[in-house]
Amino acid sequence: MPVASRTPRPRRYLMCRPDFFEVTYAINPWMDPVVPVDTGLAVSQWERLHGALVEAGHTVELIDPLPGLPDMVYAANGATVVDGKVLGARFRNEERAAEGAAYLNWFRHNGFTDTLEPRHLNEGEGDLLTTRSYILAGHGFRSTAEGHREAEEYFGRPVVSLELVDPRFYHLDTALAVLDGDEIMYNPGAFSDESRATLERLFPDAILATADDAEAFGLNALSDGRNVFLAETAHALAERLREHGFTPRPINLSELFKGGGSVKCCTLELRTAA
Ligand code: ARG
Repeated sequence: MPVASRTPRPRRYLMCRPDFFEVTYAINPWMDPVVPVDTGLAVSQWERLHGALVEAGHTVELIDPLPGLPDMVYAANGATVVDGKVLGARFRNEERAAEGAAYLNWFRHNGFTDTLEPRHLNEGEGDLLTTRSYILAGHGFRSTAEGHREAEEYFGRPVVSLELVDPRFYHLDTALAVLDGDEIMYNPGAFSDESRATLERLFPDAILATADDAEAFGLNALSDGRNVFLAETAHALAERLREHGFTPRPINLSELFKGGGSVKCCTLELRTAA
């Protein structure tokens, strides 16, 4: 696709300042409570991401962080918003359970009238990624197949379930990113054989990430259709994106990486337009 045809679309995101960020428990292989975390550095890195999104023309809403919920900074997990409809999150781990209500509460107080408190497990946009034609849904570690069906019924859009098999890529958004419309990039090694075949069939032109870029969390990226905000250490992936006409925007979120997250984890897209 020619470079000139990449058009960024202004988006609305929800983010949560990491004022209370720390690693006090381990619910994914990247978290180690013994490794020190610099909360001040986490905040300044997060502020740079926030600033880069605003500078690119996007609107960023903020939810107040709550003490005792250190992972609340990973706003992507707080809900899924499609066509202005809000599907709340239900977390697998007790440590994060209270975030579900905190996020749903924010939506109910900020003009979102169509909201659903889910019955089944789903960790928001961590596992539910919206393309033009589908909602791609991860399971295997956090969200469940029942959670996928609940999302499909509520949003009335086709949900494609994908099985994650590598515990380092425990949420779909650590293994796959939506770039524009039905264009995606992903880490083939994170999926079961069957799900990999599904991805190959539905997205034959997808960008495939190297193991190094996947381990640098390069797939935990955010695209506005032209700018792709991603971990600054995902060098080869940035080059591939450039070849495809995108503009990589490298971001350093090294402190938040200690919790097992990067750019996408810190942002929840508020898709209000139908
Ligand atoms: N420590 C958090 C967890 O394990 C990180 C969540 C990352 N978020 C994401 N959207 N992948 O739940």
